[in-house]
Amino acid sequence: MGLDDWGEDPEGATPLGEEEREGLRLSWVTDRSDLNAAEADNIRDGILKWEARRHRLDSLLDDKTVRDLHRDMFGDVWGWAGKYRRRELNIGVEPARVGIEVRNLGHDARFWFGKSSTMPVEEAAARLHHRLVQIHPFPNGNGLLSRELTDLVLISCGEATFRWGRTDLVVASETRSRYIAALRAADAGDIAPILKFLNE
Ligand SMILES: Nc1ncnc2c1ncn2[C@@H]1O[C@H](COP(=O)(O)OP(=O)(O)OP(=O)(O)O)[C@@H](O)[C@H]1O
Ligand SMILES: [Mg+2]
Repeated sequence: MGLDDWGEDPEGATPLGEEEREGLRLSWVTDRSDLNAAEADNIRDGILKWEARRHRLDSLLDDKTVRDLHRDMFGDVWGWAGKYRRRELNIGVEPARVGIEVRNLGHDARFWFGKSSTMPVEEAAARLHHRLVQIHPFPNGNGLLSRELTDLVLISCGEATFRWGRTDLVVASETRSRYIAALRAADAGDIAPILKFLNE
């Protein structure tokens, strides 16, 4: 299999480890372009499935939803889809804390989006998105998963979804660089740049 030869990952993407590459479920995938095509189909089907139904905010913020959505977006391609990460990365919480951190985020977000909250919905959604990618629950697919979950949450609140810089954020671009820089600012406690990016 030629998966060693994938070329450069875009800035801020998490490279796959050996163990994760072995989780590839499709024998016909032999290079990066096959993989991109297989992932794109899986992601599109997964998103369609979730967007075809109405979801309650409360259930979207359940940690089981996070795993189910990841499995539906990546499970045709990767055996580890929907399973929390067990490997340490240079981003994200330590693997043993992933489950508790995702549950804590769900509790916090219920409060941010709640009726008694004074936080604007866009800010609550930006915080949810940033915190989920910062936790980095899965070996890969965290960005796409967190962008979709955030959109599903906005839909459940009757709000318009974010436009994510109006571009495909998966490929390297000036917009992706601004997105990653804004997430780094949020890591340092400044939510304003990502909020601005998401409302563009
Ligand atoms: N410093 C950072 N702080 C918080 N999140 C970050 C940071 N750097 C990158 N990220 C997030 O991690 C994502 C990359 O992780 P991963 O490779 O698991 O996602 P992906 O869905 O496979 O790909 P994509 O990069 O297209 O989102 C980025 O999209 C971004 O959302
Ligand atoms: Mg990735």
